[in-house]
Amino acid sequence: MNYEASESFARKMDEQDSLKSFREKFFIPKKPNGESVLYFTGNSLGLQPKTTRAYIEQELKDWEALGVEGHFNAKNPWMPYHEFLTEQMAEIVGARAVETVVMNSLTVNLHLLMVSFYRPTAKRNKIVIEAGAFPSDQYAVQSQIKFRAFEPENSLIELKPRENETLLRTEDIEQTVAENGDSIALILLGGVNYYTGQAYDMRRITEIGHKFGCIVGYDLAHAAGNIELHLHDWGADFAAWCSYKYLNAGPGGIAGAFVHERHAENFNLPRFAGWWGHDKKTRFLMGSEFVPMRGAEGWQLSNPPIFQLAALKASLDIFEEAGMKNLFEKSKRLTSYLEFLLREIHDERISIITPSNPEERGCQLSIRVKNSDKSLFKAITDKGVVADWREPDVIRVAPVPLYNTFTDVYKFARILKDCLA
Ligand SMILES: Cc1ncc(COP(=O)(O)O)c(C=O)c1O
Repeated sequence: MNYEASESFARKMDEQDSLKSFREKFFIPKKPNGESVLYFTGNSLGLQPKTTRAYIEQELKDWEALGVEGHFNAKNPWMPYHEFLTEQMAEIVGARAVETVVMNSLTVNLHLLMVSFYRPTAKRNKIVIEAGAFPSDQYAVQSQIKFRAFEPENSLIELKPRENETLLRTEDIEQTVAENGDSIALILLGGVNYYTGQAYDMRRITEIGHKFGCIVGYDLAHAAGNIELHLHDWGADFAAWCSYKYLNAGPGGIAGAFVHERHAENFNLPRFAGWWGHDKKTRFLMGSEFVPMRGAEGWQLSNPPIFQLAALKASLDIFEEAGMKNLFEKSKRLTSYLEFLLREIHDERISIITPSNPEERGCQLSIRVKNSDKSLFKAITDKGVVADWREPDVIRVAPVPLYNTFTDVYKFARILKDCLA
């Protein structure tokens, strides 16, 4: 693609964009002067679909009119409500319906899945994570190790980039797994690293992990709705993700979980249980013996928050309408355009640390600022850019294909250039 650093080119790209009408489906926050901000933090909190309110109001109305009967008689009955989201969620992560469930929050789901899939023994008790994993994952993993009476000092392997490098190389991950293979119980990686924006080769990592007898799980917080995922085909054992970033379900939105079909009927796996994971045919017989449901649903604990499900459903309907393939195609063009414009700035105070290969990243680009100088971030923020600063030295910018435009990207690069000047 021959990109041009001009507003007229960006506008032309927007006109030709087959998804251009989707921006209108979202509320774009405004500056005090009424103009829309340049919103690039869909990787942190996705924007509100204009339909979300009506989806939630439907449930409020049914609660108002029906009370408890809403469980069966609401327009969208609450009893099976979470099932209405399963197929769409499965499509987003490349899974089968039986492998997917919407429940809880991300860190909660990681813990529940580690209860089942981190099963350390004296010989095989290590967990492999990224040294730069999101802190919540680090805490979760360390606490799981301690909970099983092992020590993180001995049982945690952290993958670090090579000296003077920022990204993890697949071959180095492979080597670590090969060297420690029979002592590794679990490999738990982020599908896309929150800081660098690097997308890992999950197919390859899953394959190598399994070759050495390890369980392989993923935190897809920055991957779900952002990059193409094929969890079933890759054979990952489990995964969890949140829905408030690319999936636009609102702050603290209800999360997702994946358990590969090969574990669907493995009822011997230890798991923390609650009534919503019990076989739905006999749930209301109120027996005391837990009979888990087949598949990912068997990991549910509680009856789910319907308003949260409604908010997520509003967004998933938009994803379905847009089509994942179209979104990924636009995403690649949009982020490549951002990359092109940043490179055109030619300023040694900034550098992109995210991989330049579109197959190794999603929409986010992480811009490293020399000497950790946060004043640049403050300056662009003052000019109406909503991006974020991640310590120690990165501005993360995520043009989201559902609602960001090529003109947004152009204006951002222009502001960044002006602020550097
Ligand atoms: C990669 C990653 N893991 C875990 C979390 C924690 O998510 P939650 O607070 O929903 O458990 C986040 C939150 O941003 C994240 O980005």
